[in-house]
Amino acid sequence: MPAALRLLCGVVVPAAMLCAESLPRVTFPSGDPRRTLIHFSQDNVSHYDVFLLDESKEELYVGARDWVLALTLGTPGSIHAKASLMWGPTAEKTSECAFKKKSQETECFNFIRVLVAVNQTHLYVCGTYAFSPTCTYIHLENFTLVSSDRGQLFLDGKGQCPFDPQHTYTALLVDGELYAGTMNNFQGNEPIISRSLGTRTLLKTDAFLRWLSADAAFVASFSVPGDDKVYFFFEETADEFDFFERLLVPRVARVCKSDVGGDKVLQKKWTTFLKAQLVCSQAGRFPFNVIHHAFALLRQDGRADFYAVFTSQWQAGRAGSAAVCAYSQEDLEKVFDGKFKELNKESSRWTVYSGPDMNPRPGSCSMGPSSDKALSFMKDHFLMDGKVSPIQGRPLLVMPDVTYTHITVHETRDVFGTMYRVMFLATAEGFLHKAVELPEGPHIVESIQLFAKPESVRNLLLAPQKGILYVGYSRGVLQIPLANCSLHRSCTECVLARDPYCAWHGPSSSCRPARSATEDA
Ligand SMILES: *[C@@H]1O[C@H](CO)[C@@H](O)[C@H](O)[C@H]1NC(C)=O
Ligand SMILES: *[C@@H]1O[C@H](CO)[C@@H](O)[C@H](O)[C@H]1NC(C)=O
Ligand SMILES: *[C@@H]1O[C@H](CO)[C@@H](O)[C@H](O)[C@H]1NC(C)=O
Ligand SMILES: *[C@@H]1O[C@H](CO)[C@@H](O)[C@H](O)[C@H]1NC(C)=O
Repeated sequence: MPAALRLLCGVVVPAAMLCAESLPRVTFPSGDPRRTLIHFSQDNVSHYDVFLLDESKEELYVGARDWVLALTLGTPGSIHAKASLMWGPTAEKTSECAFKKKSQETECFNFIRVLVAVNQTHLYVCGTYAFSPTCTYIHLENFTLVSSDRGQLFLDGKGQCPFDPQHTYTALLVDGELYAGTMNNFQGNEPIISRSLGTRTLLKTDAFLRWLSADAAFVASFSVPGDDKVYFFFEETADEFDFFERLLVPRVARVCKSDVGGDKVLQKKWTTFLKAQLVCSQAGRFPFNVIHHAFALLRQDGRADFYAVFTSQWQAGRAGSAAVCAYSQEDLEKVFDGKFKELNKESSRWTVYSGPDMNPRPGSCSMGPSSDKALSFMKDHFLMDGKVSPIQGRPLLVMPDVTYTHITVHETRDVFGTMYRVMFLATAEGFLHKAVELPEGPHIVESIQLFAKPESVRNLLLAPQKGILYVGYSRGVLQIPLANCSLHRSCTECVLARDPYCAWHGPSSSCRPARSATEDA
């Protein structure tokens, strides 16, 4: 044992100290007893795609294929279904779907895509409904479908939910209104960012003005408490560069919550829609330009850092690398407050707008519905000139030979009270990497193989109060404790694991959760 370790092991030692190394320190194969995963599944239910957690009621609502489930999380170590509701497409919708050459075996079902709690008693839920997106309400008292206030049981879900289960989607309920980013048509070439529900006018992006490229694919959306904006993260083909091949770019778009659309110009359209390019690159490599997922970590000061996972379009397949980049809310705001790009109609090239400034600034949240001049300007000044660079100008983590499909981030304190950020990253092959950010670089504490056969995770949800991570996949839900400290048998093992959730407890000679290790030290 090195001298420093010997010294440390006499007392309580935070496990995240010491030096960094990049490959996973421990890999647990599927079924390893040191990292037992609690599994839930219900007969005949597949595609556990969407989660909604109610931490106060200890319930997890799950949107699956033709089913919505209410799971009780009560006692640690058990998940059981409290209620379930089958909601499949009608026979008529299924045959229409098959008639349109879609598969009755794999596609003509109701894949749930939107699941939000509109109030204490009602959920709002939307599904692909055999390529005919449909929404409804669920009454939580008896977990049954109920009609809307206007008396309709089934509502048109176009613009809120995709038609095709393969299409990406994101939806967020803010102040009783649903902000959604998805495909707005059957063909899948008309993306949309919409706002619906609530009492205000329905708002959309303008398809004719091409605010979004036809292939825009949404991966996440966020609203930070106390901020008047909603952010959307997505991928699309860029047309602002002269490039010989199709060039994908990761983007962030924002709209203002206060937006009510225009009076004369931009009626029922966003008047505050702006988008910007995200950068995630490392010197000497192809840029990481394909975004797969994003997560907003609320900071202590009430603002957010946005974490996102990327790959590169130029190194597909096994040999490719994945990267994690984080962006501060301030950096996003700086770019949205900066210069606009505009398309020069004669040369068909994008240039920087160099005309006079306007007051109020076009696209700002203080812009009113009747400022026609500013609204006309917004029609073709929706792309920012600046690019959003990651914190410290580089990726937080670059991993060879993986594709990260999902990310969630947790902040935790070690026994000394030092704050650490822990990233949970799901790979396309069904591994979960737990990585801690250290001053000298990232350290992968552990890698857990989630499934016996490789498959992609569909959903990752952190329940910080319970110390649990929920994973949705094709055949069920997995419940994973954030750490198992007791698998480290010696002080050296415990300390070298560098897991901020664990600490060595000298008096009892055991590796314990950091929360409890100080209690009787
Ligand atoms: C944690 O590891 C210990 C020791 O290997 C094992 O006995 C225990 O079952 C594990 N607990 C979980 C929840 O995986
Ligand atoms: C599952 O489906 C099979 C075949 O359709 C049916 O026989 C069985 O009763 C179903 N099980 C449940 C629990 O619904
Ligand atoms: C909750 O929302 C539903 C659907 O909009 C509505 O019918 C119901 O009255 C609301 N309940 C409360 C307590 O606001
Ligand atoms: C479920 O509860 C709601 C509200 O109490 C009621 O309106 C509805 O009729 C109930 N549905 C069923 C099937 O019992």
